[in-house]
Amino acid sequence: MTARTRARFITLEGGEGAGKSTQVARLRERIEARGHRCIATREPGGAPGAEMVRKLLVEGPAERWDGVTEALLHFAARREHLRTTVLPAIASGTWVVSDRFADSTMAYQGYGHGIDRTMLGTLYDITVGDFRPDLTLILDLPVEAGLARAASRRGKETRYESLPVDFHQRVRAGFLDIAAADPGRCVVIDATAGIDDIARTIGDALATRLGS
Ligand code: TMP
Repeated sequence: MTARTRARFITLEGGEGAGKSTQVARLRERIEARGHRCIATREPGGAPGAEMVRKLLVEGPAERWDGVTEALLHFAARREHLRTTVLPAIASGTWVVSDRFADSTMAYQGYGHGIDRTMLGTLYDITVGDFRPDLTLILDLPVEAGLARAASRRGKETRYESLPVDFHQRVRAGFLDIAAADPGRCVVIDATAGIDDIARTIGDALATRLGS
């Protein structure tokens, strides 16, 4: 298989209420319209066992876990997601668009909770290995706007939203740092724009970065 036809792994990242799930659906449609098979998935979750872990992470009181345990649970869910959903899809030539991946652990547990980033890198190596996204789109918007959007539509999944605004400020700064350190993989997208404008910017990034 040539580099041009190889199935790609694309991740969307960002803080609360950034509009990732809408853009994941739009991106999948765009990729399929270009003749590729494509699945949309999410983290934490995206596989039956990983969805069970998701419930433990996103529901209940904020103090349920400390930052290290959270990181371990996210990586456990991630490994299951990769093993049962992402890697088989890529191997069969199906593109994968994921609503969050490991940059979220670095941003939330690393920058947000202050967990040692070298340790998170080691956990990545142990649980994921050499596999990396081909392209990461970071949807950026002011924390207050994102939290307001998220509050208007959430059910039981309020655990992270209930953390203080300064936690979310650190998460936002973390994503921007991650993007600045890895510009070959990451593109920062202004998520205050309208849905169609954001979808167009993402489409342009795909064309420029992946030729698709
Ligand atoms: P979602 O609301 O985008 O579905 O994500 C669920 C929450 O999980 C969100 O508040 C961010 C958080 N999260 C982490 O803290 N670390 C991670 O590694 C991932 C994937 C998500």
